[in-house]
Amino acid sequence: MNTLSIVGLQFGDEGKGKITDSLSHQFDYVVRYQGGHNAGHTVYANGQKYVLHVLPTGIVHPHTMNILGTGMVISLDALQKEIQPFNLSQIRISDRAHLLFPFHQQIDAQSEQTTSQKIGTTQKGIGPAYQTKTSRIGIRAGSLKDLSRFKVELTQLKNTLGVQFDVDAYLEQMKAFIASIVPYITDTSYEVYQAYQQGKRILFEGAQGVMLDLDHGTYPYVTSSHPTPSSIPVDVGLPPAFVRDALGIVKAYTTRVGEGPFPTEIFGEDADKIRKTGNEYGSTTGRPRRIGHLDVVMLQHAIRMTGVNQLAITLLDVLSIVDTIKICVAYEWNGQRTTLVPSHAQDLANVKPIYETLPGWKTPIQDCKSFSDLPKEAQDYLHRIQQHLGVPIRFISNGPKREQLIERGHHD
Ligand code: IMP
Repeated sequence: MNTLSIVGLQFGDEGKGKITDSLSHQFDYVVRYQGGHNAGHTVYANGQKYVLHVLPTGIVHPHTMNILGTGMVISLDALQKEIQPFNLSQIRISDRAHLLFPFHQQIDAQSEQTTSQKIGTTQKGIGPAYQTKTSRIGIRAGSLKDLSRFKVELTQLKNTLGVQFDVDAYLEQMKAFIASIVPYITDTSYEVYQAYQQGKRILFEGAQGVMLDLDHGTYPYVTSSHPTPSSIPVDVGLPPAFVRDALGIVKAYTTRVGEGPFPTEIFGEDADKIRKTGNEYGSTTGRPRRIGHLDVVMLQHAIRMTGVNQLAITLLDVLSIVDTIKICVAYEWNGQRTTLVPSHAQDLANVKPIYETLPGWKTPIQDCKSFSDLPKEAQDYLHRIQQHLGVPIRFISNGPKREQLIERGHHD
């Protein structure tokens, strides 16, 4: 199979950037298909740390082509900043991807301040940009090819949304950058289709995580796109049969940023220790992430939704500091035991997690090179996760560096 999709199975921030980066040199194409610069994928390359928000992770490999797919909402300002150290000729932007403008960001920030139901968004304008798209008044990247038509469309959009925005000043400021990217705005569905037919290897890079999916996550505390491989065919413009193998990324515990239900959340000193050790601060917003135990109920929900057939467990080394490890295996809800995720956020907030507890290993594991190097308790934890989820664990990330990644053998 020459395609692979990478998907976060929790609330985003599972460490997809590192896994994608470790694998992306094996691929000819890396394709982002949803979201925008709300994502934050941290990669280390050429001795440098890059936090990529809008660019696919393959950009750090000079021979990889990087696609910004149709399902994305693209901020030109964010793209301009991020592309600086890289080569523009290594990207292709879908002519059908929607553009995200500074006023979308303002609307996002305002609605977070004024609405009674705060979502805790990244305030990057993602929700408002998708709203513009689904209201069928959006502007797509292809419009940048004709600046006078683009100006008319942008003026109309500004008037329809009733926002203060100086179209002329924006165009003046972005003119040179727009001219530089126009040659790379293309029908990316055609490009990826051709690449597939030629036997090229294609990696689909998901942003956020399944529990932030607009439909299948903890609505309304979700993002406005579908971070599941099921959306790739539509978001890239490909037949579903092109998307089969999927690698699910699972952090060894759970984190979440923003508001919303989090049944296994922990507080106080225990949470602080994990936050500090795992550097659990948003890579896009810097917000401290909320911390919790591993939640198998949510993971089973996410696995069912995505059909992932292999897993990577990340940040396992962080759990070296805890005495015991809890896994939530079911919820108690209205006096009943359930292994389904209730659809209403308030109900999910009211479930009581049912845990099983395993001993910790209390020893550093960052230097382990193979599964058998890991302490027995860590191996047991991984085996237990695999038993609960019914999907083989292929990779274990035991530190932030590229080489701190264990690929499991068949007999581990
Ligand atoms: P939005 O995507 O900015 O609209 O934010 C909606 C929700 O998704 C908020 O809870 C954000 O914190 C969360 N979110 C968006 N992008 C990411 C991400 O890349 N990692 C983790 N959480 C995210």
